[in-house]
Amino acid sequence: MGVLGVLTAGGDCPGLNAVIRGVVARCEERGKEVVGILNGWEGLLEDRTVMLDRDKVRGILGRGGTILGTSRMDPYVHGDGLASCQETLSRNGIDQVIVIGGDGTLRSAMELASEGLEIVGVPKTIDNDICGTDITFGFHTAVQIATDAVDRLATTAEAHNRIIIVEVMGRTRGWIATFAGLAGGADYILIPEVAYDINHVVDVLRSRHRSGHRYSIVVVAEGIAPPAGYESARTKKDAFGFDRLGGVGYPVAAAIEDLTQFETRVTVLGHVQRGGTPVASDRVLASRLGVTAADFALDGLTNVMVGVRGTEMMPVPLSEATAETRGVPDNLYAIAQTFFG
Ligand code: F6P
Repeated sequence: MGVLGVLTAGGDCPGLNAVIRGVVARCEERGKEVVGILNGWEGLLEDRTVMLDRDKVRGILGRGGTILGTSRMDPYVHGDGLASCQETLSRNGIDQVIVIGGDGTLRSAMELASEGLEIVGVPKTIDNDICGTDITFGFHTAVQIATDAVDRLATTAEAHNRIIIVEVMGRTRGWIATFAGLAGGADYILIPEVAYDINHVVDVLRSRHRSGHRYSIVVVAEGIAPPAGYESARTKKDAFGFDRLGGVGYPVAAAIEDLTQFETRVTVLGHVQRGGTPVASDRVLASRLGVTAADFALDGLTNVMVGVRGTEMMPVPLSEATAETRGVPDNLYAIAQTFFG
């Protein structure tokens, strides 16, 4: 029997270590050796690995980051696919790989699987936007961090009679914004899935201020377009070709301040949403995903990821998982809208 490789690629996410721990524990139970591939695909391209066993993964359940390291290197961008991974695979006797990654990583995993490598994916992103699964680990931790920030910003906004724009991550989807906005009682939430009219935002804030509440919190997803006539400085792309986001809160604040004359400030939460210890529900979810991914691999499944459907975990073809990203449904946003102003 060969060795199972496990890697974490793309942006980090709270719960990665819990997944790795789950994979190793289940493989040990079922008698399969595990090797950790370091720094994502880079370790597969450059033969950087470490043997993993139960002892090596003790004490990591609640630790943020990833003990294996990660990178945005890609076997098809920085190598020629499976051929460039072959040396590492053969030298370590790896016959199966568990890939813990977001949509860019899972797309590369699917291509490698179509070239013949046995792969099981684990969906990973704080953005919660992967198709074929109801939830991704790390999301609830990011939402909790963003909600704590909204709560704190509300008290200082109130003390100073200010509007505060809280910009959260989520790339092209508004899951973190919608959840943190709902949980934090935001007065308006802007997400990429729903076109907005800045004049409507301003009307809602003005009427709130007229009724005696002289501060407001607006949660903005990083992926929204800036208001017409206001620029957002987005120029760079990451290794997967995605726009490097961040900063759209500033043009939103400028427009609101110009139109209302209310003092408007911006807080961009950024990577704090991905750092630190995962909340309990993410530790549980990540552990279940790790154990289930190991089971799927050892049962001979390939070219699938572990999807969560209700209370069950099931194999989802990587083609389905990577076809598009999953947006916030209209009815959920409508519930958040009920509380605007
Ligand atoms: O996909 C997760 C995510 O945190 C996004 O929300 C964000 O836009 C992006 O990664 C940031 O990536 P990086 O760490 O490369 O700046």
